[in-house]
Amino acid sequence: MLKDTVTKLLNEQINKEMFSAYLYLDMANYYTTLNLDGFANWFKIQAKEEMDHAMIFMTYLQNNDFPVVLEAIEKPTRLYKDPRQPLEEALKHEQFVTASIHAIYAEAMEGKDYRTMEFLHWFIKEQGEEEKNATDLIAKYDLGYKNLLMIDHDLAKREYHPADYELD
Ligand SMILES: [Fe+2]
Ligand SMILES: [Fe+2]
Repeated sequence: MLKDTVTKLLNEQINKEMFSAYLYLDMANYYTTLNLDGFANWFKIQAKEEMDHAMIFMTYLQNNDFPVVLEAIEKPTRLYKDPRQPLEEALKHEQFVTASIHAIYAEAMEGKDYRTMEFLHWFIKEQGEEEKNATDLIAKYDLGYKNLLMIDHDLAKREYHPADYELD
């Protein structure tokens, strides 16, 4: 049996991952309006990965006999002033998600919930990659501002690979 404080946070994390997907779809839509289809592709794939994350949290809870409760997903209402802004917000958002996952880990550690600690290791590593990707995108953007279409062409090549997390 997992502790209530831990399951509550894990259940909330499903919503945060779904909101991440929504936020990235919103960004993808913004880039589509600018005809930057490569950036749109990159963020659409990012959104799919976030939905994978939500599913992994949900399955983990269900495998531990927790009745998952899905809450409303907040509406992304961001208005972007230029193509760089979503990149900055994506980084900020990933830092927020990292902090959220670390908080669950701290709670699991507090309660000697070794199973959840082990479960979260993949996400702790994944968040490191997410923050790196977001930081790299900003750097690429700044380097190639005059060649935005070249970056766009590059980002168009990103392909979706389902999360490599094995749960029973
Ligand atoms: Fe995520
Ligand atoms: Fe993410």
